[in-house]
Amino acid sequence: MGVRSVLTTIGNISAHVGEKVKLGVWLYNRRSSGKIQFLQLRDGTGMIQGVMVKSQVSPETWEQAADLTQESSLYIEGTVREDERSPSGFEMDVTGIEVIQTAEEYPIALKEHGVEFLMDHRHLWIRSPRQRSILRIRAEIIRAMQDWLNGEGFTLVDPPVLTPSSCEGTTNLFHTKYFDEDAYLTQSGQLYMEAAAMALGRVYSFGPTFRAEKSKTRRHLIEFWMIEPEMAFVDHEENLRIQERMVAHVVQHILQHCRDELKVLKRDTSALEKVKAPFPRITYDEAVHLLNREGMEFSWGEDFGAPHETKIAESFDKPVFITHYPTGTKAFYMKPDPERSEVVLCDDLIAPEGYGEVVGGSQRIDDPRLLEERFQQHQLSQEAYEWYMDLRKYGSVPHSGFGLGLERTVAWICGLDHVRETIPFPRMLNRLYP
Ligand code: 4AD
Repeated sequence: MGVRSVLTTIGNISAHVGEKVKLGVWLYNRRSSGKIQFLQLRDGTGMIQGVMVKSQVSPETWEQAADLTQESSLYIEGTVREDERSPSGFEMDVTGIEVIQTAEEYPIALKEHGVEFLMDHRHLWIRSPRQRSILRIRAEIIRAMQDWLNGEGFTLVDPPVLTPSSCEGTTNLFHTKYFDEDAYLTQSGQLYMEAAAMALGRVYSFGPTFRAEKSKTRRHLIEFWMIEPEMAFVDHEENLRIQERMVAHVVQHILQHCRDELKVLKRDTSALEKVKAPFPRITYDEAVHLLNREGMEFSWGEDFGAPHETKIAESFDKPVFITHYPTGTKAFYMKPDPERSEVVLCDDLIAPEGYGEVVGGSQRIDDPRLLEERFQQHQLSQEAYEWYMDLRKYGSVPHSGFGLGLERTVAWICGLDHVRETIPFPRMLNRLYP
């Protein structure tokens, strides 16, 4: 390549208008009019069109460009020009190329493919503009949540992934051997975060969690990521306020900072604009009435399924909290309502537009005697939870927390019908590859 030019990225191209630059890129697509070749180029930070005019480059350069296959890798040199018609706002007048590798025939050609085929080629599929946009939004959601929590004085604490006991029931635990002992992959960091809240006040964890669930639905992953805040001296009411403020912040942040990505996904953002605190709240009892009124059969004491959640969400134009579920439907650690012991001080946050539950939270039991009773009722070995009982013996305080499922949140904000596209390499029933 001739003149030395500055190596930059497509994401930074606006700083180089009128300059000669060099980009490391992959070829996404190529069109030719005989005298001009239009090269769609991507480098992960964005897309740009390179325009190569036959009369302005050497015959070798022209031929090299003509031979490029989809996903070939190359360095490209040229002058950056503003162009209102181009989606990125810029184009490059190409003066030279240096091919790094001519790609073999790319399996994901620019046409429709079946889902299973795409999932088998997930390692390549993530290069597509749509998948790239989702992964960018995912990263930005993580950043927005952490920024918000850090700004509110929460401290990040990392719970273990290998655990000796369960948090969310024993039916979907992933078992493994831990030398001579039995161990499980974590279902939730919550119990450890309760210990951390007693040490640091307001804490949160962010990490992968595992559920060996035999459910094959649009919303279930075997491995998913959760953000789990836990707060000492915070009751049920305040817990809801923290959740709605955090979720509203995340949605508004994405609307502001990921406009291009939302456009690639063709996301209608009008519903997201409305996601501002406070969120409406209904009790489980009211939700049951609502379902019956709408003609859906549902008895008190059952747990809501996806169709029920969707029906409930239809009555609201913001995420809605469902609170005070029957004790029997929920985990052992939730505090009963002091005025009505058959329900617990908990909430599920249901996203609008049919995206279902994105957050589950509760006030935790702080009375040691009641907690002991619950261990017995749930047939959990007290021995394994001795350390957890200690938290109720040495300065027990009212405390609450919640878990936000990252992938369901990504699906909702991006407007995707299935969680399989919300995580780089999904782990689902019947899917461990790639
Ligand atoms: O309601 P869950 O099971 O709550 C807990 O694990 C609590 N210990 C959290 C806490 O209070 N610290 O899960 C919380 C969220 C759900 O609302 C959902 O968004 C997500 O985690 N989730 C899943 N996401 C994808 N696939 C699955 N199999 C999921 N199970 C739960």
